[in-house]
Amino acid sequence: MMVCYLQALLLLGVQVLLSCWTPAASNAFFYHEILTGNGNKDVRLNGVQFHVDSTQPWSIGFRGGNATLTCRYWYQPELSSPRRVRIKWSWLPAVGGRGTDVLVALGSDIRSFGDFRGRVRLRQDFPGDSALVLSELQLKDTGRYRCEVVDGLEDNSTLVDLQLRGVVFPYQHPRGRYHMSFLGAQEACEEQDATLATFTQLLRSWKEGLNWCNAGWLADGSVQYPITRPRLPCGGHGLAPGVRSYGRRHAHLHRYDVFCFTSSLQGRVYYLQHSYKLNLTEAQQACQEDGAEIAKVGQLYAAWKLSGLDRCAAGWLADGSVRYPIIMPRRNCGPSDPGVHSLGFPPPQHKHGVYCYKTSKTEEE
Ligand SMILES: *[C@@H]1O[C@H](CO)[C@@H](O)[C@H](O)[C@H]1NC(C)=O
Ligand SMILES: *[C@@H]1O[C@H](CO)[C@@H](O)[C@H](O)[C@H]1NC(C)=O
Ligand SMILES: *[C@@H]1O[C@H](CO)[C@@H](O)[C@H](O)[C@H]1NC(C)=O
Repeated sequence: MMVCYLQALLLLGVQVLLSCWTPAASNAFFYHEILTGNGNKDVRLNGVQFHVDSTQPWSIGFRGGNATLTCRYWYQPELSSPRRVRIKWSWLPAVGGRGTDVLVALGSDIRSFGDFRGRVRLRQDFPGDSALVLSELQLKDTGRYRCEVVDGLEDNSTLVDLQLRGVVFPYQHPRGRYHMSFLGAQEACEEQDATLATFTQLLRSWKEGLNWCNAGWLADGSVQYPITRPRLPCGGHGLAPGVRSYGRRHAHLHRYDVFCFTSSLQGRVYYLQHSYKLNLTEAQQACQEDGAEIAKVGQLYAAWKLSGLDRCAAGWLADGSVRYPIIMPRRNCGPSDPGVHSLGFPPPQHKHGVYCYKTSKTEEE
């Protein structure tokens, strides 16, 4: 039996394995106790293939929502009685480096770790179902997840990608172009209710038309910029459209702009109706008096991209910039492309409108 199995595997491929296998043999025949262990801890599955795969190797969610990452395991040939396995989900950061544990299940003992604690569960809807259900999705949950299943000494694994629906936006320091180290860029995105964009996110935005001539940091420490319409100051007409990369830059020494990523809001951004124009301090107060906060740049982008906010009125934002969101370009409303347009960072005594942000919670009250 074993000889047949090995030859089949080496010479003919796994398919032949089935023809060697005699269904009459009891399943026990295929187990070989290596050590006298309890349960199936130290048991090797002989002649049985241990499969792990994902019916959907990617999943898309949005901030605050849920996502199911599919994973299942099964045996070939099928086993007559269920066996105890250890299921481990881990998260592999887009940046590379070591993965972090998300959830480990051994029978009914299920543990989750770190930031995932309390937000993840194992689905277990059918035998072998090891899908991971993530709830209250956060921006930093994007990336690649590994589902690893261990049966005794056998193990197999599969990968599932999680992406969030959202928007990538370029961000520049108030003091101007190319003022942020990698750490500064990370902080800038967080202050705007966003995270550093990954290359995958930037690439998708480029396919959707993002055209930006200033290079910005990405989550992996590289510096890139997306060009859909080549032109002189952005590398010249000769270069093809694409995402151009300066490669990895020094995290402390080099300074650039940044590409941030944000996803759906659990609240609403709106242009505050006010009888007169406001300076920056008055703008902040006016939002507070309306039971809201002055909106962050990421919140305005999310409202524009994901909720269709279109307003031909420039308003203050929390970082001291003045911007307005346009879906349908029209006369006297800035550039001919849709986008969140910016008047930069005017002196704080200048008078403008203001965009406020109200969380769903305060709206219900
Ligand atoms: C793991 O499972 C996959 C999916 O069925 C299978 O193609 C692969 O051969 C298995 N790997 C091992 C090492 O058994
Ligand atoms: C997420 O799943 C939980 C139950 O697991 C459910 O109560 C909640 O409504 C879901 N949230 C969304 C946004 O679908
Ligand atoms: C905004 O105007 C108020 C008076 O309404 C003034 O007290 C405040 O100093 C001004 N702030 C700025 C930043 O100019």
